[in-house]
Amino acid sequence: MKRIAIFASGSGSNAQKIIEHFTDKSDIEVSLVLSNNNDAYVLERASTLNVPVYVFDRQIFYKSNQVHDILRDTGVDFIVLAGFLWLVPNNILRGWQGRIINIHPALLPKFGGKGMYGDKVHQAVIEAGEKETGISIHYVNEKYDEGEIIFQYRFNILAGDTPESIAERIHQLEHKHYPEVVERLVRELGGGGNREQGIRNKE
Ligand code: GRF
Repeated sequence: MKRIAIFASGSGSNAQKIIEHFTDKSDIEVSLVLSNNNDAYVLERASTLNVPVYVFDRQIFYKSNQVHDILRDTGVDFIVLAGFLWLVPNNILRGWQGRIINIHPALLPKFGGKGMYGDKVHQAVIEAGEKETGISIHYVNEKYDEGEIIFQYRFNILAGDTPESIAERIHQLEHKHYPEVVERLVRELGGGGNREQGIRNKE
């Protein structure tokens, strides 16, 4: 069994799609949803879908090994960020190197970085006069939105498009492609588990 953890700070519609995508698969599951936000709707979505949740604060995340240890003890092989707004600390980056991905609602490397999330991204894309936008799935490193790009899907911006209308199309694309890309990457991991942390896949 391969185990996925999802980090999310807000609504969690992507998290939900990913959880649902794997509910009928016997060899991959979403084992844990983690959030920095006690009020995040993603926590309700996860509970409804019977996925355990874990909430942490800044102190725990950056000044302790608690989150790292929970991921290790859960046997997490792969980490998915889905609307998660904090940088991932080094202990987790090291432990899951090449196994942490994020989705961004624009065509990176443009329109990324700290503070570029939600409708602000789409507003910036429109103001820049871009002809197209899209989604980017990328590896996570110590900087916002700068890891290697894995997958992009683009579409034309139409006259009269607003941040809201773009956001709607972006979400549809994210829901279609993110679970598929996660599955492909998890299947490519092979059977070795995460050796650095001594994690073995519990088949
Ligand atoms: C998505 O648009 C994603 O690209 C961005 O945050 C948003 C999260 O949406 N990183 P949701 O919480 O999954 O609905």
